[in-house]
Amino acid sequence: MAATGKVKVGIIGSQFEAEIHAASFAIMTEEAEVVAVASPTAGHPEALAKRYGIPRVFHDYRQMLAQSDIEMVTVAAPNYLHAQITIHAAKAGKHVVCEKPLCMTLEEADAMIDTCRRQGVLLMYAEELFFTPKYVKAKEMADEGAFGRLYLVKQSEKHFGPHAEWFWNVERSGGGVFMDMGCHGIAFCYWFLGRPQIQSVLCHMGTYVHGARTRGEDDSICILEFAGNAVGVVENSWARRGGMDDRIEVYGEGGLTYANLHMGNALPTYSEYGFGYAVEKAPETKGWTYPVFEELWNYGFPQEMRHFARCVRGKEEPQATGEDGRVVQEVLYAGYESARTGCKVALPFRPKGVQRPIDLWRPAAGD
Ligand SMILES: NC(=O)c1ccc[n+]([C@@H]2O[C@H](COP(=O)([O-])OP(=O)(O)OC[C@H]3O[C@@H](n4cnc5c(N)ncnc54)[C@H](O)[C@@H]3O)[C@@H](O)[C@H]2O)c1
Repeated sequence: MAATGKVKVGIIGSQFEAEIHAASFAIMTEEAEVVAVASPTAGHPEALAKRYGIPRVFHDYRQMLAQSDIEMVTVAAPNYLHAQITIHAAKAGKHVVCEKPLCMTLEEADAMIDTCRRQGVLLMYAEELFFTPKYVKAKEMADEGAFGRLYLVKQSEKHFGPHAEWFWNVERSGGGVFMDMGCHGIAFCYWFLGRPQIQSVLCHMGTYVHGARTRGEDDSICILEFAGNAVGVVENSWARRGGMDDRIEVYGEGGLTYANLHMGNALPTYSEYGFGYAVEKAPETKGWTYPVFEELWNYGFPQEMRHFARCVRGKEEPQATGEDGRVVQEVLYAGYESARTGCKVALPFRPKGVQRPIDLWRPAAGD
């Protein structure tokens, strides 16, 4: 394998997030190049390859893993496949960028981390909020002492529900909105506060709007207590109309900052006729909308992929790792348990035999 030059990347998956990966590498081209894509549905990887000039297409990711020049793969497949794909990739000697949430269970998280370590490859966790420019600015100010001692960090992400059917099927997703987007907020608070020990988790959730479609929760509120007397609040919804909303609030004894990811990078716009695209998950472009510019850049995706490629070359140390993903996974377990009992759950919390985190809250009928 080449140890210099651009890192050769293979993308696994060819739809929503795979497109973001391909577009991100296409925005920042100096560190990496996508040389292959693998995804099972005939026509889908071919279409992605055509849009981004990716030379090789596979329908079985294991065939792509056999390509000796590929150094790093990105995993943009449904959650239930993350562990299996990561372990196969590591055994094939590839560095792995795995999408959020890391996997379905803590046993899978352990196996992913252990396999990558034994194979001498990096396991990088694709939490783009660690790279989101507006949120990075908030953290830089906090780290400089702008707000004094932090006592409360909030992150919230809401929209009207995901685009693909598998998200709604908890057998394949592992849970509803808390699993899908709560994982971002948990990781964010943990990272923002400097990765202190998480002491307890209290969570409330319910299915308010999409009960006919899913056993998963479509709204959740989670409170995390951190060592050092600080609290994280993570709010998520698949029931919120009007497109994506993503925001943070940071409070310290000496100050505060607010950041709304989509406002300030958006143009308040009114159109009688509509136009092509406004913002992720916006249902339409007629009437009042808030189209964003440089959307992927504002999320931090290109910066994240560039960082991961630089890690493969040894130029940077991974800032988002499998271990971060495992911490998030444990909080997901604790959150679902807390939602069932109505009580705070103390960490460490490692119940055995969990198949899907959501089962701790709402077991499948017949389980
Ligand atoms: N970081 C973020 O903000 C963000 C946003 C969206 C999705 N995601 C994550 O990315 C992952 C993919 O989500 P998505 O929205 O792209 O879903 P999607 O349904 O749009 O795409 C899933 C892709 O995986 C492919 N796939 C299915 N089985 C496969 C297999 N055996 N081998 C290879 N590919 C296979 C599908 O064919 C499809 O191309 C999920 O884990 C999701 O949580 C992250």
